[in-house]
This record gives sequence, C-alpha cells and structure tokens, in this order.
Amino acid sequence: MMNTRCDRTAAWGVLQAHYDTDGLGFDLRRAFASDTGRFAALSQSAPHVFADLSKNLLDQRTEQLLLAVAREAGLEAHRDAMFAGRHINATEDRAVLHTLLRRPASAAPSGDLAGAFGDVHQTLDAMLAYAEKVRSDSTITDVVNIGIGGSDLGPQMAVLALDQFAAPGKRVHFVSNVDGHELAGILRGLAPEHTLFLIASKTFTTAETMANAQSAKRWFEQSGGVDIARHFAALTTNVAAAKAFGIDTTFGFWDWVGGRYSMWSAIGLPIALAIGADGFRGLLAGAHAMDEHFRSAPLEQNLPVRLGLLDVWYRNFHRFTTRSIAPYHSALKRLPAYLQQLEMESNGKQVDMAGQLLTFGTSPVLWGEPGTNGQHAYFQMLHQGTDVTPLEFIAVRDAAHDLAGHHPKLLANALAQAQALMVGQQDAGGHKNFPGNRPSTFFVLDQLTPESLGAFLALYEHRVFTSGALWGINSFDQWGVELGKVLARDIEPRLASGDVAGLDASTAGLLQRLRPLA
Ligand code: F6P
Repeated sequence: MMNTRCDRTAAWGVLQAHYDTDGLGFDLRRAFASDTGRFAALSQSAPHVFADLSKNLLDQRTEQLLLAVAREAGLEAHRDAMFAGRHINATEDRAVLHTLLRRPASAAPSGDLAGAFGDVHQTLDAMLAYAEKVRSDSTITDVVNIGIGGSDLGPQMAVLALDQFAAPGKRVHFVSNVDGHELAGILRGLAPEHTLFLIASKTFTTAETMANAQSAKRWFEQSGGVDIARHFAALTTNVAAAKAFGIDTTFGFWDWVGGRYSMWSAIGLPIALAIGADGFRGLLAGAHAMDEHFRSAPLEQNLPVRLGLLDVWYRNFHRFTTRSIAPYHSALKRLPAYLQQLEMESNGKQVDMAGQLLTFGTSPVLWGEPGTNGQHAYFQMLHQGTDVTPLEFIAVRDAAHDLAGHHPKLLANALAQAQALMVGQQDAGGHKNFPGNRPSTFFVLDQLTPESLGAFLALYEHRVFTSGALWGINSFDQWGVELGKVLARDIEPRLASGDVAGLDASTAGLLQRLRPLA
C-alpha cells in the first residue's frame, strides 16, 4: 500500500532537469505573450469552485512532468486506499474516512464501510434533530463551544463564514485557549439558564479543553444553573469520559476522523446550530461533490491534484517556504487559521512513512489575512521584498449585502493585486520599481454558501493529501504536538513550588520570573 516517495521516481530527475532549464528563469509575462491559450489551459472549474492557476510559475510541460511523478508515486492508489477505508494512517493504525461523513444516505457503500456508514447517518440525524430542537428553544440565547485545534477552528471559521445564513437570536461563542481571560470574558455576558455549553474534544483529554470545561461547569453551578443535562452536551469519540464528567447528551464520532478533518462530524454541531440542519447538509453536499471530483476526475483535470502538484513544485524546486492566503471576503477571516492547522499539522513532517529522514522540504508556512486589509499591512513585502511568496486569492462574485459600491471595489482590488504581482513595474526607477513575476492562484466562488464553502474546504483537504502522498509522509498523525504537552505537565507544579531542578538555565530563569509574587 505504501507509495513511492516522489524523489525516488524516475520522473523526479526529469522534473529537476526541466526546472534547471526552464523553471528557474520562468517569466509569467513572456509565458502569457507566447501562449494565447494559457488561461484556458491553466484554469478550470470544479464543483462550486473556479480556479485560475495561470499566474503561477509553471507551464503545461511542468504539469505533465508533475503528473508523471504523481502516477509513478502511486497517488491514485493511495487516494483509492483512503476512500476504501484502508489504514493509511499507519503510525496510528487507523483508517482516514472523513469523506464518509459527507457521503449522502442515498449513496450507501456496500462491503466493509456499510456498518460505519450506518453509524454516520444515525449520528448525523440525531445531531441535526438536536440542533433543530435547540434552534427552536427561545430560552437558549447563547451557545459556547469549548474545544481547541480541530475541535474549534473548523466550526469557528464556518460559523463566521456562513453568518448570513445564521438564525437570529442565537449567539455562538468559541473558547479554545486555556488562558482564563478568554472564558472569563465570555462568561461575563452570560446567564446560565440561557446558555448551552458544547464540550468538543475528540479525545476528551485535551488539557485546555478539560480546564475550560471544568471552569464552565463550576461557573454554571455557582451562578445558580440547574439541569446540567440540558445545558451541557459533549462532542467526542470518548463517550465514557464525557459521562464521567457528568454529561449525558453526547454526539459521537470515530477514531478514523482526524481532529483537523472533524468539522463534518458531530464537531460540526455549532455550525448546525447556527445555520440549521438543511444548511449543514448543504455543507456536506458541497464537500461530497468535491470528494467525487477528486475521486473520479482524470488527474489532468483534477483540481486538488493540480494544486497539490503545484505545491510540490514550489516547495521542492522553487524552494518557497511560505504561502499566503488572501480571502477577499471578511466573513472568511478565520480561514487562514483553519488552513494552517489543516496543512501544517498534516504535512509538517520530517520523516517518511518508513521513518526515514527526508532530504527535501514539506509543509510551507501558511499565513494570511482578509483582503483588502493585508494590502495595507504586509503586501509591500509581497510586491518588493526579497523573498517570493505565492499568494492565494479567494473572491466571491456575488455580495450578500446591498451596500452600494463596496463589492466592485473589493473585487477590483483582488484583481489588481494579482495583476500587479505578475506584471510589476520596470521603468519607474529605483524604489518605485516592482520586479513582478510574483505568482498567485485565484479562486472564484459564485456565492459564499454552505455548499461552496464545503466544496472549497474539501478541495484544500485533498490538495494537502496530494502533496503529502507525493512526499511519502503520513499526513494524518501529529506526534509533534506531544512533547510540549508532556513538558507542560512537568512545569505546571514547578510554578507553584519554585523547583527548577533539572531545568535548563533559560527555562529556570523564566520560570522564576513568571512565579507570582508571594
Ligand atoms: O494537540 C493537537 C491536537 O491533538 C489536534 O490534532 C486536535 O485537533 C486538538 O489537539 C484537539 O484535540 P481534541 O479534539 O482531542 O481535544
């Protein structure tokens, strides 16, 4: 089942030769001048998403060679293994089946996945019925989701993104940080009888979430709250731990749903509470449409594959270390943070499936802010800095407001920035010159809806799968987060006791500085 690492394919050497002769000095302006078909060849529609890749530093030959690497590396077999429920998350011996969460009841699989699929739909129906019940309960005005990482970022991002579809009269809050300032700030405005707490944790052991959940429960009881069963629900794979905590209402999911791939499961309950059962089903339907595209479109016209291959080209040949996300829609404010976890926790790995140290780069740093705000902050560096950062524009054709003039201004800015990055300005002299030839990808959604958001997020998931598969890494574990957790458990009591024995001098010095004054 293991695929061949990209650098061990024969096509990799051909790609390197192509980079040395044609890739290194590639010029976008010349490429457009010499090929009138460039936009048509390097742009495409996929379900709910149009993508223009033509302002990137590649041509059709580059794509052909990247596709040859992908085929030789066994990308298609690896993809099929994921959809079939094979244990491609080998270091945890788990299947990777978030796509099953999006599969409609009308497309039930036979064979191995039939049982899991039945469980998925049973839980989905129960969770959506619960969401509708809470939505129609006017005594609940505030929902507080307590979770972190994958149990926070997806729901938080989607609730904000789909705000125009949200029911009035319900506020959804998100608490992730163990920093008590966050929870305290939210609790300050709440009344226990009007509040529903959702404790979202795949493992139900995450220290931050457990601390926040305990404090929320204590606040609830101390502020006169009664009926924990009505005011607390858990979203977790660990039903026993939720019960031990005192929660009876639990919506479960399974170990084959990775944390950063879990917003499609019960972890998505805050989204369903905000936009309703139909809206949530729309989100799943959009993602499913993209799953089908990824699963069945020929690789040449497979958008997540084309994007994932571009990522490999940029990281391993151009050696770009970062990629910037620029959503030109203020409701997509949390999208960069969500994508950071998706890509960096998935592909921030230094060993391959066999545990061998890699000799090439993997995940880039992802970062970004909504446009046009970023233009007035860090775009200077993107235009004239010494490093090249590929930029990703996400624009939505139709506005969901009727304030005159704003939307054309917004879209004009997105188009103009992409154009300026590419064409540059050569004859203004000195400080006013822009090198140009700076790459960008431009995504267009017709409207921002549950369906288009679902499709766009699934596109990203499969893109991350593609680059991870070529790199030969396990995109579905996250061992790198463990060491810090262990050390924090050691340090916490030392803050009280002042014991610095065995600590390095810096940690010891800082610990003493941070101890409360007696
Ligand atoms: O520490 C990282 C991590 O395990 C993420 O992968 C995960 O999304 C997050 O913590 C939260 O985990 P849980 O849902 O189990 O609380």
